[in-house]
Amino acid sequence: MAEIRREKPEDVLDVRNVNDRAFGRPNEGAVIEQLRGACPGLVSLVAVAEGHVVGHILFSPVGLEADDGRRVRGMGLAPLAVLPEWQGRGIGTELATVGLAVIRQTPCPFVVVLGHHGYYPRFGFEKASRHGIRCQWDVPDEAFMVLVMDGAAMRGVSGVARYRGEWDAAT
Ligand SMILES: CC(C)(COP(=O)(O)OP(=O)(O)OC[C@H]1O[C@@H](n2cnc3c(N)ncnc32)[C@H](O)[C@@H]1OP(=O)(O)O)[C@@H](O)C(=O)NCCC(=O)NCCS
Repeated sequence: MAEIRREKPEDVLDVRNVNDRAFGRPNEGAVIEQLRGACPGLVSLVAVAEGHVVGHILFSPVGLEADDGRRVRGMGLAPLAVLPEWQGRGIGTELATVGLAVIRQTPCPFVVVLGHHGYYPRFGFEKASRHGIRCQWDVPDEAFMVLVMDGAAMRGVSGVARYRGEWDAAT
C-alpha cells in the first residue's frame, strides 16, 4: 500500500502538513520541528503513497528515572499521524510495525507511547503501570503504555518516564 522509508530533508514540509492535518492543530508538528534541530537520535519515518507523503511516525529519546536511582534510556513513540483521507487503510499499522523494527535494531530496552489503548496493544504495548512505569504527566492509566524490548535490562526497573522538554508545550 505505502512505502515506508526514513525521512529526508525534502520531506520536512510534508511531515508538518501530515501532522497538522491529522491532529487538526499545530502542536505536534511544531514539536517535531523543535526536536529536529535539538535532539540527536530521532527515528523519523514517512509513508509514501502515490508519490506523496501521507503518513509519519517519530521516535524520540525518553529517560526512565528509576526508583532505585538508575537511569535507563529508551524511546517514545510520538507522534503517529496519517492524512485523514488515507486513514483506515493500514498505513498507521505499517508505520508502527516498520518503526518498531528499526528501533529493535538499536540498543533500546523499551518504547513508551501515550495514546489510545485500543490501538497500540496490537504492536505489543501493555499498560506501563503493569511494569511500574509512570508517565511524567497526569494521564489516564490505560493511555500510557510500554513495549519492553530488552527484558533483562528492564528487570526490576520501575519509575517515571520523561520525554524531551520540547514535548511539555504540546501536552
Ligand atoms: C491513529 C492513526 C495514526 C491510525 O492510522 P491509520 O492508518 O488510520 O491506522 P490503520 O489503518 O493501520 O489502523 C486502523 C485502526 O486504527 C483505529 N484507529 C484509528 N484512529 C484511531 C484513534 N484515534 N484511536 C483509536 N483507534 C484508532 C481504527 O479503529 C482501526 O482499528 P481496527 O483495525 O481495530 O479496525 C490515524 O488515524 C491518525 O493519524 N489519527 C489522528 C492522529 C492521532 O490521533 N494519532 C495517534 C496519536 S496517539
